[in-house]
Amino acid sequence: AKPTTIASAKATFFILTPPKFALSIIIQKNCEKNMKIGLFDSGVGGLTVLKALRKTYPEVDFIYLGDTARVPYGNKSAQTVIRYSLECAEFLLNEGIDLLVVACNTASSYALQVLKGSLPIPVFGVIEPGVKRALENTKGKVGVIGTKATISSCAYKNLLEAKGVEVYQRACPLFVPLVEEGLLEGSIAEAVVEHYLKDLKEKGIDTLILGCTHYPLLKPLIERFMGPQVKVIDSAQAIALEIEPFVKREGSSKLDLYFTDISPSLQSLVELILGEVKEPRLVSLPCKV
Ligand code: DGL
Repeated sequence: AKPTTIASAKATFFILTPPKFALSIIIQKNCEKNMKIGLFDSGVGGLTVLKALRKTYPEVDFIYLGDTARVPYGNKSAQTVIRYSLECAEFLLNEGIDLLVVACNTASSYALQVLKGSLPIPVFGVIEPGVKRALENTKGKVGVIGTKATISSCAYKNLLEAKGVEVYQRACPLFVPLVEEGLLEGSIAEAVVEHYLKDLKEKGIDTLILGCTHYPLLKPLIERFMGPQVKVIDSAQAIALEIEPFVKREGSSKLDLYFTDISPSLQSLVELILGEVKEPRLVSLPCKV
């Protein structure tokens, strides 16, 4: 059966909330005229997408949810990724967002259609923008790297092959822990990059899509290994262009960061990725209003 979490969340909201109070919350949310963009990811990696969006739209308000209690999504089943994604979206929707960006590649691969069909606001994933940019660059051979789940979904591969492109895929499961350990340079990171990317390099690809939120942090290393003949596509940048027609460039540059778990290393990871100091706030999902 098609999940109806958003609808049921709204129903629960009205059942549990006295009508007058519910109405005032809705009016209050609608009166907040600032554009508010919501993003979610399985954890901290989506902050690479947030960073790119804030750079492009500095005046807009953003709210980010990282599902750190349940990360990684990249080795979970499609069904679980869809359920988690709906719960994340539900939380952000209740926070009054006008547009949702699914920053997580794994969630974009499995849950985008369900989210688009369930939410009353525009929803964007990171797969199509990445594919578009790859197609602009390639002469015919594209590499795609991502989590095991993203690679086995063939989300990138199917879109690229439909345009007549030859696609070589590789799951790189050690890249995420590498980034989370802050190992962005040095011999360990170099060895892991070589281990995963050697075959792709030998295939003679001219474009490589970084199909995972964490990988932009390894971009300098990956570019160095692949060499100047390979264009490395970062979907964090691609998504900023994609949402442009839907963005009202107004707001108070507000940023709220929510996580489902706050571990001792979270703050420093947030700073490493986002490049600024921000207080993370804790939330538990599913969100009960
Ligand atoms: N955010 C995930 C992605 O982009 C990577 C981390 C995970 O496995 O959850 O696919």
